[in-house]
Amino acid sequence: MSLVDNTRTLDDLFARSPLLPVISIQRESDILPLADALAAAGISNLEITLRTPLGLSAIALLRRERPALCVGAGTVLDGRQFQSVLDAGAQFIVTPGCTDELLTLGLESPVPLLPGIATASEILMGYRLGYRRFKLFPAEVCGGVQALKSFAGPFAGVRFCPTGGIRQESLAGYLALDNVMGVGGTWMAPRAAVEAADWGAVSRLSAASVALLVKQESILE
Ligand code: 3PG
Repeated sequence: MSLVDNTRTLDDLFARSPLLPVISIQRESDILPLADALAAAGISNLEITLRTPLGLSAIALLRRERPALCVGAGTVLDGRQFQSVLDAGAQFIVTPGCTDELLTLGLESPVPLLPGIATASEILMGYRLGYRRFKLFPAEVCGGVQALKSFAGPFAGVRFCPTGGIRQESLAGYLALDNVMGVGGTWMAPRAAVEAADWGAVSRLSAASVALLVKQESILE
């Protein structure tokens, strides 16, 4: 896939489902009910991180058992991990930052890479290669809504998925920005709810965020 195709794929998947739960699987038995609880609220994109040893097998399981979902891999740090998530069937790849190695792999990748950036200089590292979609990370620490407003000046045509420290209360501020295509984080599936296997709570929290999104979209129409 070319970078242009991959950018279009990212746009399509965020247009379908702009909220991106960031999930670190601690127990195998959580994988399917957690995905189902998010899906029940209308969330179809998931980012499964490699922060736990179950990350890769969770991606493979979800691809096999829940083909209607779009399963991405997160916390991909190097070329070896990049290849391993492709082998597991990841449909998009998210990295917390950008290196030459990762950006180069993303250019030829069969699935889109969403590289992490925190500064204008990092955007430019990707921009010169043709990247126009980035994860802003850690969003709340590196300026959040104000940083994104500032990036909109020099980087027309660039869109972001802010992630890191975002909660339901701060979501609306991000969704209101034209250069935000999606918002990611753990708040829709908080650790305590997952540990307690409280899938009802995950669905309720996710549904509240989806409702906010729908409200925001109707305001902007
Ligand atoms: C990420 O990698 O995107 C963050 O760790 C998300 O976690 P948070 O929403 O709890 O900050």
